[in-house]
Amino acid sequence: MANWRYLCAMSLLLLPLSLQQSPSQASDTLTANQQLSGNQKLISQDGNFALGFFQPAVEGLNGKWYIGIWYNKIPVQTVVWVANREKPISDPASSNLIISDDGNLVLLENHSKSQTWSTNIKNNTRVTSTVAMLLDTGNLVVTYDSNTSIALWQSFDDLTNTWLPGNKLSRNKTTGVAKRMISWRDRSDPAPGMFSLELDPNGSSQYVLLWNNSVLYWASGNWTGNSFSGVPELSTTNSGYTFQFVDNDEETYFTYTAKNDALRFLRNFVDVSGLSQASVWIEASQAWNTFFTQPKFKCSVYGMCGENSICSENDASSCSCLKGFIENNPNNWELDDHTSGCRRHVPLKCGNNGSVNTEQDKFYLIGSVKLPDNAHSTDAANVHACELTCLNNCSCIAYAHNGTCLVWYNHLMNMRDNFGGSSDSIFIRLAASELPNSGTKKWWIAVIIIGGLIIVPGSFGVTILYFSHRRGRRISGMNQGDGSLISFKYRDLQFITRNFSERLGAGSFGSVFRGVLPNTTVVAVKKLEGLHQGDKQFRAEVSTIGSIHHINLIRLLGFCSEGAKRLLVYECMPNGSLDKHLFGSSSTTLSWKIRYQIAVGIAKALAYLHEECRDCIIHCDIKPQNILLDASFVPKVADFGLAKLLGRDFSRVLTSMRGTVGYLAPEWISGGAITTKADVFSYGMMLFEIISGKRNLEHTDSRMETFFPVLAARKLLQGEVMTLLGKELMNGVPERELERACKVACWCVQYDDSSRPTMGEIVKVLEGVIDVEMPPIPRYLEAIAECSESRILFP
Ligand SMILES: *[C@@H]1O[C@H](CO)[C@@H](O)[C@H](O)[C@H]1NC(C)=O
Ligand SMILES: *[C@@H]1O[C@H](CO)[C@@H](O)[C@H](O)[C@H]1NC(C)=O
Ligand SMILES: *[C@@H]1O[C@H](CO)[C@@H](O)[C@H](O)[C@H]1NC(C)=O
Ligand SMILES: *[C@@H]1O[C@H](CO)[C@@H](O)[C@H](O)[C@H]1NC(C)=O
Ligand SMILES: *[C@@H]1O[C@H](CO)[C@@H](O)[C@H](O)[C@H]1NC(C)=O
Ligand SMILES: *[C@@H]1O[C@H](CO)[C@@H](O)[C@H](O)[C@H]1NC(C)=O
Ligand SMILES: *[C@@H]1O[C@H](CO)[C@@H](O)[C@H](O)[C@H]1NC(C)=O
Ligand SMILES: *[C@@H]1O[C@H](CO)[C@@H](O)[C@H](O)[C@H]1NC(C)=O
Ligand SMILES: *[C@@H]1O[C@H](CO)[C@@H](O)[C@H](O)[C@H]1NC(C)=O
Ligand SMILES: *[C@@H]1O[C@H](CO)[C@@H](O)[C@H](O)[C@H]1NC(C)=O
Repeated sequence: MANWRYLCAMSLLLLPLSLQQSPSQASDTLTANQQLSGNQKLISQDGNFALGFFQPAVEGLNGKWYIGIWYNKIPVQTVVWVANREKPISDPASSNLIISDDGNLVLLENHSKSQTWSTNIKNNTRVTSTVAMLLDTGNLVVTYDSNTSIALWQSFDDLTNTWLPGNKLSRNKTTGVAKRMISWRDRSDPAPGMFSLELDPNGSSQYVLLWNNSVLYWASGNWTGNSFSGVPELSTTNSGYTFQFVDNDEETYFTYTAKNDALRFLRNFVDVSGLSQASVWIEASQAWNTFFTQPKFKCSVYGMCGENSICSENDASSCSCLKGFIENNPNNWELDDHTSGCRRHVPLKCGNNGSVNTEQDKFYLIGSVKLPDNAHSTDAANVHACELTCLNNCSCIAYAHNGTCLVWYNHLMNMRDNFGGSSDSIFIRLAASELPNSGTKKWWIAVIIIGGLIIVPGSFGVTILYFSHRRGRRISGMNQGDGSLISFKYRDLQFITRNFSERLGAGSFGSVFRGVLPNTTVVAVKKLEGLHQGDKQFRAEVSTIGSIHHINLIRLLGFCSEGAKRLLVYECMPNGSLDKHLFGSSSTTLSWKIRYQIAVGIAKALAYLHEECRDCIIHCDIKPQNILLDASFVPKVADFGLAKLLGRDFSRVLTSMRGTVGYLAPEWISGGAITTKADVFSYGMMLFEIISGKRNLEHTDSRMETFFPVLAARKLLQGEVMTLLGKELMNGVPERELERACKVACWCVQYDDSSRPTMGEIVKVLEGVIDVEMPPIPRYLEAIAECSESRILFP
């Protein structure tokens, strides 16, 4: 039946257009007698970009198709331009892209019955020689006779949310027209959203981010000659990229290119969350690495958290709904897009006449906040009068009294938590039933207790049945080897974690919660945040991670992929993470023997990931927080493979590190190519901490001699390693092992990644199988220690 319908559609399509052919396979040009339809594509000559019909990878939007340009060689769908942003089509097979009779590139829908999009070229008389070409830069050009120096129209002038290398972000001084990037509405909808970026319309030499094309929430600062004053990291002296700002009589523009071929997949875009970001595709980790984000303080994005919410500058989730409000669009919230904001959970009584006995609305106090925008001041004399003023107007939803009485109507925008030690307080209006100490409270408690006695054991029994039912079952499509993964329902995970009540920690990929399976196995449930990929791809990646087994790698037990929710279930380690033992206040210091065992174990795990797995895996985030310890202190590396799932965002590192590198290899920040040697660098920095039992940073005061890695390198050269550690730590430390460990660590943290050893070599050295030369002082770290007060980091 389906086949028949398809054939029918095909013949209808072919009849009226019998003169039009499809471009030959992998062509970069569409000529006047050709058409593009269904899954046909134009591919740029170098094969890097493709143009064709696509659907946004985020699920829930089946049946909406767009014409767009994306990276042809990158497995994560990354769209850089969209033609029909606001007018999706429903069926690519009955739609086509052609050069029309008036010489425009047009998108026709429904067997050419309606025109959905056009390039709007005026007065093109040379229709038969008009062609559309997809260039190696990712630019789609409409021109004559394939002469790319004439552009009747080009996608580089019609930016969507992405600005590619080589394109000019320009403003024409004659017409005043500026090229503007506008964010997608949400991750599944390319229609124009609220955030845009362009050169300052007032004519200064800076570029700005605007909300609703009117509210300015960030400006780059003027061009100083080699960077914008507010963005020193985008400087012309940066090692990886070239930036150029030109201001002549005709136009002002800003442009950039990559200096190095490994960085050719580079893009600058306005994210749906309102951030201006730049990222580069890292071949080795198969992920986008975001190396630039502005504003650095996310909460300064206008409307970042939408209405009725509060923004805080935390690492993990920055937005939360106010008490009494719930997320307007939970799916978007899961995808790290909070702009849809929150709505009231229980309607206010005000305005609903109700009965005379109805309780009035109440107010809920939130302290130390930055007050929301658009306050109206009234002349109420004191707090009490202010409250009454608000109560008497049903549109009033909050008030504050800081000397004057301020009230807010309809919704609250841009409220911030703990903002610069702010001491303002605000009272939020809620239905009385949302707040405690109403008369009905005791009654509710009774119901909950009685209900709980009946319901909880019941549901527990059901769940046990449920789990034992599926225990033997293999999930089809997942690996069938010894470690088959369990595909959990979100409901199950809510249950086993007691609704995510016991948080074990929060990392760069999301929060981790303790859970107990019905067979009493304790597990760690990780709620992934900021994941923008579809179910199928997620399952494929998880299946790969699940098939990797090594005594020093944490074991993945299962996962959940439901709507936009993505969770991973791991075995739980009784001794927690390494950082707690090294830096925590716990009285038991790990013995040298155990510390050495940990160092060797981690090296073995990384050697396995780098050299022995089928696909080389770069961990990308080696640090003590990601090393877990089992009951006998055998180390287990956690979070491997996640960089590939999630990409990395190191762009905020610059502000948070305050001049020290932490565990990050310099190539992450300078934009160099990332290889397994980036993990080696991180391992080296961590090894110094394992050796000293303290943070590298803790040793740093104003004098550089106290930066442990540099100190260790010097002592090593002077043959005085035994003086490195305090007396209590020195006890029973064999000099041979200490010297070996210090040598390895120093080699690992060399600036030039080719000087660093491989993890396989490190294992051999630590085990005493091979020896290694005396390392040079790590000059990069020395330089950093010297200017730890300045905000460099672009060596
Ligand atoms: C396609 O064309 C038919 C006939 O003109 C019309 O009834 C139908 O609504 C069209 N569908 C779309 C999606 O435009
Ligand atoms: C296009 O042609 C029309 C009519 O021939 C003319 O009025 C108009 O100025 C032309 N536009 C351009 C941009 O040349
Ligand atoms: C392309 O167009 C430019 C400008 O009209 C012209 O100077 C050049 O000769 C053309 N190139 C070719 C190969 O036709
Ligand atoms: C600016 O716009 C004018 C009018 O459309 C055009 O003639 C000129 O070529 C443009 N300048 C640049 C540098 O694009
Ligand atoms: C441009 O000028 C307008 C009006 O003077 C002002 O409100 C706006 O903030 C200015 N924009 C910038 C980026 O300075
Ligand atoms: C940027 O330059 C403009 C003039 O082009 C000047 O009016 C403005 O004050 C400068 N802004 C800053 C922050 O220096
Ligand atoms: C955005 O701006 C337009 C016009 O400037 C205005 O009509 C609209 O209400 C604004 N949208 C919001 C959400 O404030
Ligand atoms: C509330 O009371 C007013 C006047 O008594 C009446 O006109 C209105 O319909 C009532 N509204 C509701 C929602 O009951
Ligand atoms: C409530 O406040 C709004 C906004 O100031 C105003 O338009 C409205 O008339 C007020 N309603 C009452 C009943 O005072
Ligand atoms: C009260 O807050 C408003 C709005 O934030 C501010 O404009 C005003 O200066 C504050 N008044 C006092 C006395 O702090």
